[in-house]
Amino acid sequence: MVEPRDALYGAPSPQALLDEVYENYKRYLNPPLARVMRVSGSPVETRAQGCTIWDQNGKAYLDFAGGYGVFTLGHSHPRVLAAVREQLDLMSLSGKTMFNVPMGRAAKRLADLAPGDLTISFWCNSGTEAVEGAIKLARVATGRAKIVATRDSYHGKTLGALSISGRAAFQDPFRPLLADAALVDFGDVGALDEALRDAAAFVVEPVQGEGGVNVPAAGYLRAVREACDRAGALFIADEIQTGLGRCGYRFACDRDGVVPDVMTLAKGLSGGIVPVGAYIARTAVWTKAYGKQPLIHTSTFGGSELACTAALAAMDVLEDDGLAENARARGEQLLAGCAAVAAEFPDVVKEARGLGLLCGVELANEGYGGWIIPEMVKRGVTAAWTLNQQKVIRLEPPLIVTESEVDTAVAALRAGVATARENLGRL
Ligand SMILES: Cc1ncc(COP(=O)(O)O)c(C=O)c1O
Repeated sequence: MVEPRDALYGAPSPQALLDEVYENYKRYLNPPLARVMRVSGSPVETRAQGCTIWDQNGKAYLDFAGGYGVFTLGHSHPRVLAAVREQLDLMSLSGKTMFNVPMGRAAKRLADLAPGDLTISFWCNSGTEAVEGAIKLARVATGRAKIVATRDSYHGKTLGALSISGRAAFQDPFRPLLADAALVDFGDVGALDEALRDAAAFVVEPVQGEGGVNVPAAGYLRAVREACDRAGALFIADEIQTGLGRCGYRFACDRDGVVPDVMTLAKGLSGGIVPVGAYIARTAVWTKAYGKQPLIHTSTFGGSELACTAALAAMDVLEDDGLAENARARGEQLLAGCAAVAAEFPDVVKEARGLGLLCGVELANEGYGGWIIPEMVKRGVTAAWTLNQQKVIRLEPPLIVTESEVDTAVAALRAGVATARENLGRL
């Protein structure tokens, strides 16, 4: 195993590695982002294991940003790595002209775990592709065009998924987007019947992640199910961030005991080892759309042997190690800790909320975040903003996180909040 001090990717020193990567970002990737990261003192990630990332200096960070939900099993889970290494020696990408064993097994395992009669899956490489696939499926299955989603939602940045993501800043530069997309307020049951008239589908996150970790009232998804049934629209649950144990349930839909028509997944699906995405649909829905045309929605790289081997192993770990249960217990601890910080500093922290290990800390003012997150990083804990809500700090650690690691993160948050209070006072 590579020791932290050796993980310099061939650079002569930690500083040389930082300078090299900064130059590369500035010249060849994203100059403004490079500058923002440099100014905020971003280190270089060089190695990761479990809940820990090490930087170029060998400093360890507890990963409470968690790759925005990717690292459900922690980094480099040994069981997933072993399965992937074994598969690498056989074949990694699918030739596509023959049957593919890992894709078949991963699809069967996913159907076994998914709620109700969700059975037929389509495998791709990212969350946004899973959403694109679900939108297309809904249009073909229903013969309708309109897709309804929620304000402040996040479903991805390809054009279809972007059309139903509820943040103007991401959408406006790219208009015109998909016609026939409409938004309703998240959690507003009363708006559904009117909005869903003649709609192909309602796409909704069981808990809005990037919208600021918004947890709907219990029963919301049941009301969604009923409204979709009344309208003849499909219920598409976007579980890309909430699924696979994250919210303390196998899937966050299980909180309400509902079965959507289609569920989208990515992020934690392959345990953070190989990019993967998928949607899984009821057989009747899939058959209506593609029963007679099996090749009109495909992906060259989707469902590769490597990705599906990782997904299969990751689903096994999730079940065998009871990670949803740990997410629930540690999530309660994390939320209680964040709520205590909110109670101590009510003029800095407005509220802490969450479900399982998807936790949001809403600040009284956006400006505080610029102090709190760097202070946490200085103390060896990563955290992140939510994409649509810069007032909300998201804490989303791996589901394997321990009680003492949660305590450490809460202490870092408290220190960050105290620093913000000291430096900025009442904004
Ligand atoms: C709920 C949800 N849907 C879709 C996506 C898009 O996934 P990806 O970034 O893999 O395209 C995300 C990403 O954050 C997400 O949180």
